[in-house]
Amino acid sequence: MKVGIIGQGYVGLTISAFAGDKFDVIGFDNNKRVVEQLNDGISHIEGVDSTNLQNSIKAGRYRATTRGEDLAEVDLIVIAVPTPLTPNRQPDLSHIESACKTIGENIANPILVINESTSFPGTLRNYIKPTVERYSLKTIEHLYAISPERVDPGRRDFNQKNTPRLYAGLTKEAARKTQEFYSKFCDNLIEVSSPEVAEAAKLFENTFRQVNIALVNEFAQITHALGINVYETLDAANTKPYGFMKFTPSAGVGGHCIPVDPTYLAAVAEDHGAPATFIRRANEVNLEMSEYIVGRVAEDNGGNLKGKNVLVVGVAYKPNVADVRETAAELVIDHLRSLGAVVSWHDDVVSSWKGESSAPLSGADIAVVVTKHDSVDDKRILASAHYVFDTTGKVKGATGL
Ligand SMILES: NC(=O)c1ccc[n+]([C@@H]2O[C@H](COP(=O)([O-])OP(=O)(O)OC[C@H]3O[C@@H](n4cnc5c(N)ncnc54)[C@H](O)[C@@H]3O)[C@@H](O)[C@H]2O)c1
Repeated sequence: MKVGIIGQGYVGLTISAFAGDKFDVIGFDNNKRVVEQLNDGISHIEGVDSTNLQNSIKAGRYRATTRGEDLAEVDLIVIAVPTPLTPNRQPDLSHIESACKTIGENIANPILVINESTSFPGTLRNYIKPTVERYSLKTIEHLYAISPERVDPGRRDFNQKNTPRLYAGLTKEAARKTQEFYSKFCDNLIEVSSPEVAEAAKLFENTFRQVNIALVNEFAQITHALGINVYETLDAANTKPYGFMKFTPSAGVGGHCIPVDPTYLAAVAEDHGAPATFIRRANEVNLEMSEYIVGRVAEDNGGNLKGKNVLVVGVAYKPNVADVRETAAELVIDHLRSLGAVVSWHDDVVSSWKGESSAPLSGADIAVVVTKHDSVDDKRILASAHYVFDTTGKVKGATGL
């Protein structure tokens, strides 16, 4: 069986690596540089090992391509392209449309099309199927299914094999074939009654995180105002064995999912006349955290950051990954600069970002820790500046939330 995977990023390459043990995989991506690098056996994604990739290439089980024609013979296609927001923060399905165009223009026989990209309920039925059909050169009855991706890049305890996976088909046959495909490399598959349930469940999972992170971020501000330690308070609450789940405060949320997916849910809710006030407010609270943090740093430093040499430590959106999409560090840096601080950043995992390079972890007036990678030592952080503000709760001895 030949499998085509459209999009070779975090999700698509991870699936390619797992499916590549069982199927012949063609990884299609419209980024030429990514494709060349993959065909040279170099993985650009944490968790996908370059040696495994090289072995799959040598065995003739994997190759990457930018040519839609190379997908002509596949039996199944997985869509794993970005679903970001437009500049006015609306769902942007342009990458999905382009993936549907690739399928429509290149696939002449009926296949199974599975969407793994995150989107709002109704995307598979009302957008993907009609768009593929619109671009198809003749009438073809493809099968359509959804299986939202739950990969957590950089995580070691849960992966494609042991993370339970939801799925649903537009037809029973689509669902059956989807189950057959994933059961080859995933232990726990859960069928739901419609694609819309799977799509909504995925959005709710990340909305749950967004809202709870906003709640704990607000709580951190309350405990500070009350002179109580937020971490000790959360640990105390967490001794309750049921009905409580611990989240920890931070500079905000980042990555491609948590800041974005709840907005997809809010947009579709509002389109259907249902309020999404709670979801919208959670997003705002998380975005406002950067301003709160910079305010605390300024307050502790005589109320004036003008000309101060400030080092932001960790600009990836979470520990141990190089992903800077939607990182809270960007807002923290913007606020610091707006107050006249001279800002540089240190992140050995990211190395270069927005035309700037990682600065040495030393010699600053102030350090603000936004993300702490395991490779960065507490002692080095504490020695890097006269004053260290830690937003992660992991740097012992620093001032913090
Ligand atoms: N990264 C995660 O942790 C994660 C987890 C769960 C779900 N998701 C969802 O999975 C989807 C993909 O996310 P990702 O993190 O893998 O994105 P990514 O940016 O890492 O990778 C997407 C890849 O798709 C390519 N691409 C874009 N448009 C294309 C097109 N029309 N044809 C071919 N290639 C195209 C890009 O060049 C890129 O290499 C999104 O909907 C995301 O929300 C991501």
